[in-house]
Amino acid sequence: MMKYFVVAFLLIELITAQKLPRNPAPPTWLTITGKQPAVIARGGFSGLFPDSSRYAYDFVSQVSLPDSIYYCDLQLTKDGVGFCQTALNLDNSTNIANLFPKGQKTYNVNGKDIRGWFAIDYFADQLLPNLTSVQNVLTRPNAFDGQELLLVEDVTSISKPPPRVWLNVQYDLFYNQHKISPALYLQDLRFAGINYISSPEIGFLKSIGAKVDKVRTKLVLRFLEPEAIEPTTNQSYGEIVKNLAAIKPFASGILVPKTYIWPVNKEMYLMPPSTLVTDAHKQGLEVYASGFANDSPGSYNYSYDPTAEYLQFIDNGQFSVDGVLTDFAPTASEVIACLAHNKNASKPKKGHSLIISHNGASGDYAGCTDLAYEKAVMDGADIIDCSVQMSKDGVAFCLDSADLLGDTTAISTFMSRSSNIPEIQPMKGIFSFDLIWSEIQSLKPQLTSPLSQDMGGLPRNPANKNKGKFLTLAEFLDFAKAKAVTGVLINIQNAPYLASKKGLDIVGAVTTALSNATFDKQSTQQVMIQSDDTSVLAKFKDFPSYQRVYDIMNIIGDAPKPSVDEIKKYADAVDVRRPSIFKSIAFILSNFTKVVEEMHAANISVYVSPLYNEYTTLAFDFFADPLVELSTLIKALKVDAVVTDYPATANAYLRSPCSDPRNTNLEYPISPVEPGALLEIAAPQALPPSGAPAPALEVASIVDPPLPPVSKEENPAAPAPADQKKSESGRSTTNLCLSLVVALALSLILTVH
Ligand SMILES: *[C@@H]1O[C@H](CO)[C@@H](O)[C@H](O)[C@H]1NC(C)=O
Ligand SMILES: *[C@@H]1O[C@H](CO)[C@@H](O)[C@H](O)[C@H]1NC(C)=O
Ligand SMILES: *[C@@H]1O[C@H](CO)[C@@H](O)[C@H](O)[C@H]1NC(C)=O
Ligand SMILES: *[C@@H]1O[C@H](CO)[C@@H](O)[C@H](O)[C@H]1NC(C)=O
Ligand SMILES: *[C@@H]1O[C@H](CO)[C@@H](O)[C@H](O)[C@H]1NC(C)=O
Ligand SMILES: *[C@@H]1O[C@H](CO)[C@@H](O)[C@H](O)[C@H]1NC(C)=O
Ligand SMILES: *[C@@H]1O[C@H](CO)[C@@H](O)[C@H](O)[C@H]1NC(C)=O
Ligand SMILES: *[C@@H]1O[C@H](CO)[C@@H](O)[C@H](O)[C@H]1NC(C)=O
Repeated sequence: MMKYFVVAFLLIELITAQKLPRNPAPPTWLTITGKQPAVIARGGFSGLFPDSSRYAYDFVSQVSLPDSIYYCDLQLTKDGVGFCQTALNLDNSTNIANLFPKGQKTYNVNGKDIRGWFAIDYFADQLLPNLTSVQNVLTRPNAFDGQELLLVEDVTSISKPPPRVWLNVQYDLFYNQHKISPALYLQDLRFAGINYISSPEIGFLKSIGAKVDKVRTKLVLRFLEPEAIEPTTNQSYGEIVKNLAAIKPFASGILVPKTYIWPVNKEMYLMPPSTLVTDAHKQGLEVYASGFANDSPGSYNYSYDPTAEYLQFIDNGQFSVDGVLTDFAPTASEVIACLAHNKNASKPKKGHSLIISHNGASGDYAGCTDLAYEKAVMDGADIIDCSVQMSKDGVAFCLDSADLLGDTTAISTFMSRSSNIPEIQPMKGIFSFDLIWSEIQSLKPQLTSPLSQDMGGLPRNPANKNKGKFLTLAEFLDFAKAKAVTGVLINIQNAPYLASKKGLDIVGAVTTALSNATFDKQSTQQVMIQSDDTSVLAKFKDFPSYQRVYDIMNIIGDAPKPSVDEIKKYADAVDVRRPSIFKSIAFILSNFTKVVEEMHAANISVYVSPLYNEYTTLAFDFFADPLVELSTLIKALKVDAVVTDYPATANAYLRSPCSDPRNTNLEYPISPVEPGALLEIAAPQALPPSGAPAPALEVASIVDPPLPPVSKEENPAAPAPADQKKSESGRSTTNLCLSLVVALALSLILTVH
């Protein structure tokens, strides 16, 4: 199976191979040696595969920097055979409870009773042949369960040349109390292939100090949380860390939870850093930080971009840790090889995919506020976007949807003005066109998450929840002019309804605002007009400098030629949702659709929207890493723009040398995903049946009736035919949400099992 990854990335590298100027001299790092920090893969690639399983270790070499370190938590059987498994109680992530239903015991471990199944109760022959891994982290797939666990020797010989291996001995006292000696085990092994040994027990490190060749094998003191007691000295780790000089005689380094270096307060905000790294470096101690996992976000300060957290530890201008212990070795690798020391780089001027904001930088600030737009520009968006809504008194302003419920605090003041408008959306709402502008201005913006919390949504920065103010379209255009952004995207929704039922001319409002702001005459800034209504796009045919973007809100599985030809009559580009490009089963990609190719064949640009950083919105193939999705869209599928809540993340990717296909001798290319590769090794019984494919885009759905004249209708009758399509797209959005809920619920159910 691994060949798929290799083939995918070879192909892409070969196709695009060209000469590039040589990279400048490699930067020096603020690590103790000046060399780049190490990637230490905890239990292998345990972010995707069950911790310490065969797949987890096999995949490290495929998806991580070449000299990554394989980290193994040592457990020993009754007869002293060593194997890798994180928890002392094996039932945490193996099938042992099924193998030995009566094997449960309680042992006192460093003063605490732990109940479960323990390796010390079994001989290796009895235990290891049938012991397999079970995923025990809810946010990770269980489709890769059932693999063998590895002996220490399996890991030290997993590749040629052998990898660097780090053995952690967490419970030396406990094993010795049961007449099993990790030290003797290591001596029998002659420390072969072991480059690092860590332990939280000082007594153990001191006892093997004399026996180990410290050039070949480094000893590292592993810190537990500050209040925990080190069992061989009875000091708390919080005390021990204050006397670094006392550590140097028995260890060459320390492994500390990341919060020892960058503390996080209880509101999940990052505090100023400690001086631990520089202090330890002064003592000649290496510093390794633990606890990195893309699906366990550390702080709101990182905006759910896992790469931002690593950069904080290795590229902050003050210090760098010497290595990171992580469940997601691919992400640590890409940060070290592609993103660090890049702050001053700029993205290529031409020929790259565009970054279009989605309601401004709406991942960080409430969508469509002044703050969201300022951040979008600062974060490198090429195009900033405004979805235009109308107030009752005819003011055009920017907001994601006509319904004020999600994006504002309207619910607390204007609930009595809510209504049911099936032409716009299936749910009740408080609609902008029923409130006058001064009323809308009295509302606070609200920072929302794309998925609700029960659907796996993660809350966005509470400190920014209600900050900022909304902009009129005219203010938005003035802002775009002043900031000299590459362009603006103006999205027009609900035009037929507004014209026929509310007497509001949204097309006219946009045309006037653009011309008043001189975007129509020889503007060097690009104007994009987007709509899901081809009759709206037709109205802008007379502005040849405007690019017209057809918004395909429904999920499509294919774009047949007649449909593409029909779109071509109205638009230069399409905006499609991610599932129209990625097919997946239980959040694992099964294939790409041909939609991008089909559009490109007709010279129609493809924009993909919206992209988020939150790992709960990413297929497992992307390793809980938004940059892998970006690389797949941009490098492999060659989409023309990404529309994102987080322009900073897209910009970080495009600024990095790893996004440029002409760079062929990269130490770590951020490889696009080969769809179907993971699915192939997944256990079929862990997957739901694949559902019906999304329907192909039909010509009939593209042709819209001409826009009705603008007239106010006080007693709206049944929806006019012109509104039929809107209500359908409303419904299908609901269906999509529903199927997402189902898929998520399924994956949760499967994982819990
Ligand atoms: C079991 O594993 C989970 C996930 O790795 C961990 O959070 C938990 O603390 C473990 N429980 C025990 C008792 O080790
Ligand atoms: C392990 O598997 C083998 C072969 O499948 C079987 O014969 C044996 O009884 C199993 N051992 C245990 C302890 O389940
Ligand atoms: C640590 O404390 C325990 C219990 O209080 C005691 O039995 C043990 O001797 C102490 N060990 C050392 C090294 O002080
Ligand atoms: C993290 O974010 C909070 C809230 O915005 C801010 O006060 C704090 O300074 C940030 N921390 C760091 C280290 O940047
Ligand atoms: C980046 O630019 C800033 C300001 O121009 C400068 O102070 C800094 O040294 C530069 N950093 C690197 C790594 O070139
Ligand atoms: C036209 O532009 C001016 C200057 O930017 C602005 O003050 C005015 O409100 C605009 N008028 C309309 C109708 O957009
Ligand atoms: C994936 O899609 C391509 C193009 O649509 C198709 O040719 C191929 O057979 C599909 N692969 C699988 C495994 O379904
Ligand atoms: C594609 O579009 C570009 C500009 O939009 C135009 O210059 C080019 O000639 C078109 N190519 C084809 C094959 O239609």
